[in-house]
Amino acid sequence: MALQKVVRSTVIDAPIERVWAILRDFNSHDQWHEVVAQSSIEDGKTSDRVGCVRNFTLQDGNHIREMLLSLSDKDHISTYTIVDATVPLQRYVATITLKPVTDGQRTFWHWASSFATPPGMEAQLRDMVAHGVYEAGFANLKRYLQLGGPAQKASSASSVRAQSQASPVSAVTIKVREYGEALQLRTENSDVPPPGPGEVRIRQTAVGVNYLDVYLRKGWIPDFLPLPGTPGMEAAGEVLDVGPDVTSLLPGDRVAYMGPIPGAYTSVRNVPVAWTVRLGAGIDDITAAASLLKGVTADYVLRDLGRVQAGTRVLVHAAAGGVGTLVCAWASRMGALVMGTVSSQAKARIARDHGCQHVIVTANYEFSAAVHSIAQGADVIIDGLGDAAREENFEALAPCGHWISLGQASGPLQPISPDWLVSKSVTFSRPVAFAYVATHSMLNQRAERVWQAFREGILLPVQTETFALKDAPAAHARLESRQSTGSLVLLPG
Ligand SMILES: NC(=O)c1ccc[n+]([C@@H]2O[C@H](COP(=O)([O-])OP(=O)(O)OC[C@H]3O[C@@H](n4cnc5c(N)ncnc54)[C@H](OP(=O)(O)O)[C@@H]3O)[C@@H](O)[C@H]2O)c1
Repeated sequence: MALQKVVRSTVIDAPIERVWAILRDFNSHDQWHEVVAQSSIEDGKTSDRVGCVRNFTLQDGNHIREMLLSLSDKDHISTYTIVDATVPLQRYVATITLKPVTDGQRTFWHWASSFATPPGMEAQLRDMVAHGVYEAGFANLKRYLQLGGPAQKASSASSVRAQSQASPVSAVTIKVREYGEALQLRTENSDVPPPGPGEVRIRQTAVGVNYLDVYLRKGWIPDFLPLPGTPGMEAAGEVLDVGPDVTSLLPGDRVAYMGPIPGAYTSVRNVPVAWTVRLGAGIDDITAAASLLKGVTADYVLRDLGRVQAGTRVLVHAAAGGVGTLVCAWASRMGALVMGTVSSQAKARIARDHGCQHVIVTANYEFSAAVHSIAQGADVIIDGLGDAAREENFEALAPCGHWISLGQASGPLQPISPDWLVSKSVTFSRPVAFAYVATHSMLNQRAERVWQAFREGILLPVQTETFALKDAPAAHARLESRQSTGSLVLLPG
């Protein structure tokens, strides 16, 4: 008797751990598969133990007993066989295999089986297994995850979830009502509505402070922060609840996010799920908030824009700062010749600790002569200084060099003329991090590279200075004072 084969696969919009947590439970199918009316494991065995038998009834009244033959948590594979059944499937052996999709947030699910059938019933039974069991199962599991997965079964969890989805959550938020000095960052109370479609509501535990927040507060980019507005581009925390159609996150998940619309200086916020990355156990919330946007920036600047490799002469400004320390450490590990400017000897030590091989101490933006004496010019300049260093940056560039204008801590850069650039055959770019994480998959890949670099010791543990959220004015004053090193983080408390 020839064996029939059925193979089906799909991609589930949820991370592999979430899908596997359901499927590894051999008795879970009556919770998520609509054809299964009722199922139990025989002899009081646990439902993930090889050899256990699930005894279940289908909605059409048929009855099946299946035995778990193998289960690998490492490879996310399980195999099972029909022991006896009122449906005429003989020698039925099925395998479920899960693999993570490369963006880490989705799961490839392969479901395959072979079986024999009575003569003449081949097509009918193949069809039943392919459509009635596998394809229907894919659709059912997707819907089950959308509804909240296992949490939906637990009545207390579901009632909490239903309640929080129905009601606003109060938050403490920093508001700018007039552009200006740091004291314009005022603490207010607000209500955060339930998350909309594609959004998650996050209770934030740590908020990253970036120099961009200062520009916004000062009104240098008013289109970016219309008044009244809340600054802040990144944070970390715990998902409170999820909006309709969100399947990749659940209440309780730890996440960090960065996104192109300000508003992170708050204790609770709704953000699109596409801005978020799930945090593993190795990355705490403060590290995530301190280094997601800055790490992603270091990644795209060195890898995509600077195309830094062994021997590239890199000049990094504010080398002891948030972005600067990450850039120095990563560029140095890439084999670049790393030069950096800092404004004090104390900062010089920190820059050196983070891999800056040639530290130039200058508080008044004089560095081009030093760069020429160290390396005859820079191939790549990573410039967050802006206008006060404009002429010196140009002087410091080697012929055919690339000036990456990241920011403007000293003031907005005056226009750069093409005639000026052509005189040294150099290039100039004015990038923004958000364009380099424009899709969820790009964000996940870059974030993962940052976390991996921490795990491998390429990036040193991030040095952070923390402030209560209500002390945002003090955090901004500190950043603007040129005294801070590493990253500043606000704690909503
Ligand atoms: N475009 C992007 O995608 C992107 C993303 C992230 C950050 N950035 C930019 O990268 C730069 C670094 O950001 P960060 O958040 O990590 O800040 P940071 O480097 O930790 O702090 C800013 C540093 O700039 C230096 N600085 C020089 N002149 C200054 C002045 N007049 N006022 C204040 N600081 C001055 C200071 O270092 P010294 O005293 O040692 O000189 C200061 O510590 C900023 O320009 C930011 O806008 C851009």
